[in-house]
Amino acid sequence: MTAYDVEPGDSVHPGDPVTVDRYTAGARVNHWITATCLVLLALSGLALFSPWLFFITAMFGGGQTTRAIHPWIGVVLFFSFFGLFIRFWRANLWKAEDGTWLARLRDVITGHEERLPEVGKYNAGQKAVFWLMSILILVLISSGLVMWDQYFYGYTTIEQKRIAVLVHSMAAVIIICVWIVHVYAAIWVRGTIGAMTRGQVTGGWAWRHHRKWLRELVGGKSS
Ligand code: HEM
Repeated sequence: MTAYDVEPGDSVHPGDPVTVDRYTAGARVNHWITATCLVLLALSGLALFSPWLFFITAMFGGGQTTRAIHPWIGVVLFFSFFGLFIRFWRANLWKAEDGTWLARLRDVITGHEERLPEVGKYNAGQKAVFWLMSILILVLISSGLVMWDQYFYGYTTIEQKRIAVLVHSMAAVIIICVWIVHVYAAIWVRGTIGAMTRGQVTGGWAWRHHRKWLRELVGGKSS
């Protein structure tokens, strides 16, 4: 059975736009909570990072409140991302076709998708972003806890806190770059944003960008 087989009596008409479910409502809420947390963390973190950016603290009610709520938003992000991780880790496992896709990055950028291998739910770029985010969030939460003096002052040495500040700042800069790549790719590949807003994509989008996923989806259904 292929994507094109339509049985007599099916309520599908040639002119009907084909849509494919990609995310449940739960996954979308989970995603947008995570996204909001990261934006708030980046803003409050940058505000504390440099005196040039201290003015951003006004958004959070001043310097002291920014300092107090930044770690708590981090805790929410950690658990929220953990939810995404549980949902998506399996679909982000590296497959044989991912190496080929990555080797043909030039074709990805120039839009020659006909030269790329068929990919599953996520392509190699999305998988790289996923694993980078997972590692960086782990680094950020652990280095953050080391310097969260309000609750853990006595548990770590000054030396450890100094290293943690450095590691935390570096991981934050990298995750902001990864986040920019993630958002840019979501806008650049037309029709992707709808996946995370409405939960659906068009059949054309799925066929063009994630054909293996579409085949699995259609093949798994009895009609
Ligand atoms: C605020 C701006 C953001 C926008 C516009 C955005 C947009 C999107 C879109 C459209 C998708 C669906 C991609 C697809 O199905 O092919 C997606 C997936 C995803 N997003 Fe975001 N996102 C944002 C922020 C974030 C942040 C901050 C994180 C995590 C820290 C994140 C983590 C994910 C994950 C894990 C997926 C599933 C893809 C995968 O598992 O490889 N997103 N995002």
